[in-house]
Amino acid sequence: MRTRTRCKLCGKKAVVTLPYANTRLCKEHFKEYFTRRIERTIRRYRMVSPGERILVTVSGGKDSVALLDVLSILSEKLGFKIHGLTLDLGIKGYSSEYVRVAEEVYGRLGVEYTILSLKETYGFTIDEVAGIKRRVCAYCGLVKRYVFNRYAWENGFDAIATGHNMDDLLGNALFAIMRGDLEALMKIKPVIPGREALVKRIRPLAFTREKDIKLYICLKKLPVVRTTCPYAVGATSGVFKSKINELEDRFPSIKYSFARTLYDKMQIQMEESDYQLRKCKICGMPSKSQICGFCRLRAELGKISL
Ligand code: FES
Ligand code: ZN
Ligand code: ZN
Repeated sequence: MRTRTRCKLCGKKAVVTLPYANTRLCKEHFKEYFTRRIERTIRRYRMVSPGERILVTVSGGKDSVALLDVLSILSEKLGFKIHGLTLDLGIKGYSSEYVRVAEEVYGRLGVEYTILSLKETYGFTIDEVAGIKRRVCAYCGLVKRYVFNRYAWENGFDAIATGHNMDDLLGNALFAIMRGDLEALMKIKPVIPGREALVKRIRPLAFTREKDIKLYICLKKLPVVRTTCPYAVGATSGVFKSKINELEDRFPSIKYSFARTLYDKMQIQMEESDYQLRKCKICGMPSKSQICGFCRLRAELGKISL
């Protein structure tokens, strides 16, 4: 990927060749290109409007750190406001590390933020979930979606920005296609519109490759968490992600055409209003059934009774 040749724009030493864009760029031009690509994604899908307040969820990983950095640059130009949110999941040997990194990034970028403790707010940790459940990551995903949405709703945010990158989204899409899981496929899009107490969710990195994110983090010397989550072992979607990358080696623009077609189709296909939303009878948040998954989990942990 790295090359000694010259930047196509200014003739300085190139740090990267981007076969999909048929170009080579120096440090400065790569950083500009990276930011512009995200700006175009935000504009193309009308993710934010001037004056909106965006809650950016930061886990301390490379995707969310790069997202926060770029949104802090674009917020002025596009006229929106950002606020960071980091959820302390209570995972021993991991959570304290990413919370520390997130605080360092917020401080460096001068972004206002909140650190929310799952234990203090809802009375349990993901380590406790691991004591009663096997698919910890799936339950952790449910917990994060619920907590982020509830925080955004209760604090009047217009959108929640997450760091899903193009490789993640396409890997998940391929996995969903292979399982024939149309509902999961429908959710793979850059914007999930809000309705009632469900806050709009946006994915500004939907056209950004993982490799480019790594290079951006490295060039900007941004801190990221180095330890990995102890529960993140052998996620099947990772296999599909690497298959797509193998294809990209042979056909450089294949990921972009797949992403564009998929997102555009999914964006218009199923508006979330296709299913009936009720209110969870315990917490009052939106739910597809009488009691939401989050409250059911808390009940199984013995934190509330149904
Ligand atoms: Fe949620 Fe690893 S971060 S299970
Ligand atoms: Zn240059
Ligand atoms: Zn509930």
